[in-house]
Parts: sequence; structure tokens; C-alpha cells
Amino acid sequence: MSTYLPPAQRIWWNVPMGREEIVWIGIALIWCLIMFFMMPYWHVYGKQNLSNEAYQTTPAKYGPKVQAMIDKYTVRTETDQQIPVVHPPAGSDIYMLARLWQWWPIMELEKGKSYRLHLSSMDWNHGFSLQPININMQVVPGYEMVLNITPDVAGTYGVVCNEYCGIGHSTMLGRIYVKE
Ligand code: CUA
Repeated sequence: MSTYLPPAQRIWWNVPMGREEIVWIGIALIWCLIMFFMMPYWHVYGKQNLSNEAYQTTPAKYGPKVQAMIDKYTVRTETDQQIPVVHPPAGSDIYMLARLWQWWPIMELEKGKSYRLHLSSMDWNHGFSLQPININMQVVPGYEMVLNITPDVAGTYGVVCNEYCGIGHSTMLGRIYVKE
């Protein structure tokens, strides 16, 4: 029986399989298994997947957590929108929110220290894109994403919204400072 022609006999399933067909099924199966086991392997050893956590929340629950951190750790405000700059203690949980069309607040972190960065949206779908290191996360209302981060290079990082979210999308820019 050929792989290229329709079966010659009506009871085709009793006809032995062609050798080349068996070889291709074997190759496809082995490749499927390699791809399957690469997923957990690369998650652990690939040093590129974010091991993020996701929890259900609501804007009404998430907003006050952000505000509590702002009330406690604001060191100054920046820009004509008076965006608070927050310097939370190293090792703490830090909260950032996305809304039309802002990332709120600005974070000031310390190099080499670890933080748990929480992200959620107050209205609709935004995209957290941390530049120039290119970490990308969906920020969706109803879900609180948590990233364990340890910034290892000091500098100013931009947060760019990379999910189209309306007329002010292109102005939706935030900032994270990492201090020596
Ligand atoms: Cu927020 Cu685009």
C-alpha cells in the first residue's frame, strides 16, 4: 500500500502499514515527546520563563492594597500628574496598577534585592512591557499577577503598555527606578 494513493481494498485497516509511513509516525512521535518534555525542562533550566503566579481579585480589592503601599512609602512625586514615587523596603510585596492610561505608582527599588511585584488592572486589558529588558505580561482586570523579581542592573526602566487599550494607549508609560 502506498502512502500517496487511496486504499486499494475496502477493508484497508487490515493491510499492513507501509514502512515509510511507520518511519514518519515514529519520527513525529519522538519529536512530540521531545517538545513535550522541553516545556518543563526549559521552564526550570532555560532562565527565560517568568515563574509568575496568578490570583483572582477585583479592582475594589486590589486598589486599596496599592494605596496602602503608596501611603506608607511615597518619597516624592514626579511629572505634572503628581505620580507618587514609592520606595518600598527590600524584600517586600510591591503593588502596581494599570488603568486608563497610567501605570501607578512609580517604583524605586534597590539593586540586588528581591521583591514580589503584584500587577492588576482597574478597568480592562493592558500589557506590562518592561523596557529595555523586554519582560512582558498581560495585565487583566480580575487577576493579580505576581512576579518574583531581583533587579541586577541599576538604571531607569520604562513600563510600556503593549496591549491596545484605547485613545490614550500610546501615552500609557510608567517607570521603575533601580538604585545602586
Ligand atoms: Cu494600556 Cu494600552
